[in-house]
Amino acid sequence: MQSVVLSIRDVTKAFENLLALDRVSMEVAERKISILIGPNGSGKTTLINVISGHYNPDSGKVFYRGQDVTGVPPYKLYGMGLARTFQIPALFWKLTVLENLLVAEKNNPGESFVKAVLPSGIRSLKKFITPMWRNNEERAVEKASRILDLLGLSKVWDRPAFVLSGGQLKLVEIGRALMSDAKLLLLDEPVSGVNPTLAHEIFSRILKLRDELGLTFFIVEHRLDIALSYVDQMFAMALGRIIASGPPDDVLSNKTVIEAYLGG
Ligand SMILES: Nc1ncnc2c1ncn2[C@@H]1O[C@H](COP(=O)(O)OP(=O)(O)O)[C@@H](O)[C@H]1O
Ligand SMILES: [Mg+2]
Repeated sequence: MQSVVLSIRDVTKAFENLLALDRVSMEVAERKISILIGPNGSGKTTLINVISGHYNPDSGKVFYRGQDVTGVPPYKLYGMGLARTFQIPALFWKLTVLENLLVAEKNNPGESFVKAVLPSGIRSLKKFITPMWRNNEERAVEKASRILDLLGLSKVWDRPAFVLSGGQLKLVEIGRALMSDAKLLLLDEPVSGVNPTLAHEIFSRILKLRDELGLTFFIVEHRLDIALSYVDQMFAMALGRIIASGPPDDVLSNKTVIEAYLGG
């Protein structure tokens, strides 16, 4: 039997009098790639915001690994292995690819910050702390190199983020999530605005991460032509409700789903 990593029960969220999420319930299986589809404005991003702790639902519950995490703030969920990426990547543009990963590391000791504020006169203290820094730093760099390799970003490790392509930026964002030891990744439109070749590459990398690191992905994506062949499970939303779920082919041939898209 496959285990459920994320369970959403009867979640409702309104903005003023607009019901963005209307009693949404779903279960996401571990080590699978689940995709959430739906016309624009159907509530997909709002759902991700509720799961990732950016929004509190008006009612209903979110369970992560069986634990009620409703209303738990994003940084705490991050520490529990639940991470998200954004529709528009949020990176440090002037830092290199490697540095972008290092600052996302869960056990980042904040070395440069500590070094910067430590009075240079305190030699003995520095000598005492430095080996600890070095060990952490080496471990973090090793971890980052492994992740960059898995994501196919090794070639650009020393480039500043602002010179990367849109697709590479999406991969760096995933890499940052992986530095936090994420086990469940919520990706909001990971291939939007990315050319087809690179979009397929991103999904191939996602498959590889699922298989090699045992990760679970919950992905919102518009571009079904690209995503379809990589997906284990599909959910369809319209007007804040889940209208179908199951194997992708079943969902896409569902009459209500077709009508929702045609209607939209
Ligand atoms: N912060 C917000 N304030 C007010 N309305 C919002 C907010 N976020 C989303 N909405 C509305 O909720 C509905 C669902 O939006 P969203 O979850 O972004 O849809 P999707 O990601 O499926 O395109 C839309 O009608 C949108 O305008
Ligand atoms: Mg959206």
